[in-house]
Amino acid sequence: MTTTAAPVLAASMRDGYKDYGFGEAAVRALDGINVDIARSEFTAIMGPSGSGKSTLLHTLAGLDRLTAGSSMIAETTITQLSEAQITEVRRKYIGFVFQSFNLIPSLNARENITLPLDISGTDVDKAWFDEIITILGLSDRLAHLPAELSGGQQQRVAVARALVSRPEIIFADEPSGNLDSRSGSELLTFMRRAVKEFGQTIVMVTHDPTAAAYADRIVFLEDGQIVDEMREPTAERVLDRMKKMGH
Ligand SMILES: Nc1ncnc2c1ncn2[C@@H]1O[C@H](COP(=O)(O)OP(=O)(O)OP(=O)(O)O)[C@@H](O)[C@H]1O
Ligand SMILES: [Mg+2]
Repeated sequence: MTTTAAPVLAASMRDGYKDYGFGEAAVRALDGINVDIARSEFTAIMGPSGSGKSTLLHTLAGLDRLTAGSSMIAETTITQLSEAQITEVRRKYIGFVFQSFNLIPSLNARENITLPLDISGTDVDKAWFDEIITILGLSDRLAHLPAELSGGQQQRVAVARALVSRPEIIFADEPSGNLDSRSGSELLTFMRRAVKEFGQTIVMVTHDPTAAAYADRIVFLEDGQIVDEMREPTAERVLDRMKKMGH
């Protein structure tokens, strides 16, 4: 055999701790996290405000450093790397969708979508690009600037930008948070389809039980610790679980 098996995990964290601030102002945002993110799975992270969801997403993605412990993206332990090396890993393996879109106002939709590939000097796979923008309903909006698009369209541009390079993992923080329920459910349906049909790995933070029900698995955080997990969730079961957490 000359080929090696693909890694089963897209990302993982071992004994992850994250402290912000010092002395009396210190906050332990992550308090001993152990988590595996399987490839081609849609994972949702839920928990009360301040429970560490965004911190977990950012440290898994190499946007922020752990205080102690380690985290891996594919087979690379990012906690040992320099800033420049982490940036390179992010560029190569990771797509982001933030609640605030983070589109470049002076670039049109097409230019925003291909920007990561343009920066890294990678050719755009035309067939894949066309498929994404067709499914996302952006075909006739590509020449528009972000300011000329609705919130839902801007969010779909951000999702297209994350998908276009076929990253190892997409990290999304409240991707449907700013959308009306119809645009939100369209977006989540597409994200789920990307996982089921294209084997995309997605990790999504959300407050919303309906959004979380699109995931294969939910990880529940409380006070910086993983307190529970749920597979094949339904909105009803998620709501029941959240009630127990003092929501
Ligand atoms: N840059 C920072 N400096 C200091 N404390 C921070 C910083 N970022 C987060 N925290 C604290 O760490 C804890 C976890 O924050 P985090 O943003 O991860 O929560 P969250 O679960 O994403 O909450 P929300 O649902 O409100 O977005 C909170 O107590 C927060 O106040
Ligand atoms: Mg947050």
